[in-house]
Amino acid sequence: DTKPIPGGTNVLVEFEDGIAWVHLNRPEKRNAMSIELAREMNQVLDALELDDRCGVIVLTGKGEAFSAGMDLQGFFRASDAVSDVERHRAYRETRAWQWRTLMFYAKPTIAMVNGWCFGGAFTPLICCDLAITDQDAVFGLSEINWGIIPGGVVSKAISTLMGDREALYYVMTGEKFDGRRAKELGLVNDAVPAAELKDRTRALAQNLLGKNPTTLRQARMAYKYAREMDWELAAEYLTAKGDQTTFVDREKGREKGLTQFLDEKTFKPGHGNYKR
Ligand code: ACO
Repeated sequence: DTKPIPGGTNVLVEFEDGIAWVHLNRPEKRNAMSIELAREMNQVLDALELDDRCGVIVLTGKGEAFSAGMDLQGFFRASDAVSDVERHRAYRETRAWQWRTLMFYAKPTIAMVNGWCFGGAFTPLICCDLAITDQDAVFGLSEINWGIIPGGVVSKAISTLMGDREALYYVMTGEKFDGRRAKELGLVNDAVPAAELKDRTRALAQNLLGKNPTTLRQARMAYKYAREMDWELAAEYLTAKGDQTTFVDREKGREKGLTQFLDEKTFKPGHGNYKR
């Protein structure tokens, strides 16, 4: 499909049956993330949110890397060289896609880690809803190795998925670990051999494409907001969010589910989706 979307240089999008494969596209730089890449990614993600060809996003990297982290030249040196206001803008544009946009994206997101994953790359990895990795991919919080802290929002992001002992161990040692270990640490849902990575990810994406997209969006948001609340607030919020879901769901999923289970006896929710 050739309908143009923004981007094309640092970010490459391929559409396949409802899946938008969004590639960090600087393989010769191991997909290190520059200021230009952030600008392009913001445009691409904005466009895909309203693009019917995209029901699920898979974020991955071209070539040997998922991403070798922030670009030491094209992000750090480049932003050191400009005014403080421009520097802050570069940080804001990076945080925008890596954290806020991905975390609260209207469509489901899967990170597919196909190789090196260092430093700043942990933020988009963690802010995607789900993640599958090549079991031999290499991860590392390498910041300490070159004299910086895991900044941006990396330290915050890892604290949402990793235990304190493990997070601090890797923050302090900068030691590398593989995809199998990433699975043990709770950073990914699954670690598979490289040859199976794309099929496993595609199968997961297709599963999500079979769900009612409105309910799926509401369920993802409900979880992400509720985890920040105390129990009282969460109970009130989730009840209201449930009511809102019924209101905004044009597909009337709840009604169909009730009818098919209780009246028509044609489906059992324990075994899979209602007939859409
Ligand atoms: N920033 C800028 N350039 C990078 C980065 C990066 N993060 N990572 C790789 N590159 C560049 C290399 O400088 C090299 O450029 P050149 O061909 O112009 O010399 C090119 O990408 C290829 O990289 P190599 O190092 O030659 O590839 P190799 O496969 O030997 O090693 C590895 C890959 C291990 C990922 C190595 O490139 C590396 O250590 N990169 C930095 C990883 C890192 O610590 N990232 C920053 C984390 S901190 C943060 O993100 C906040």
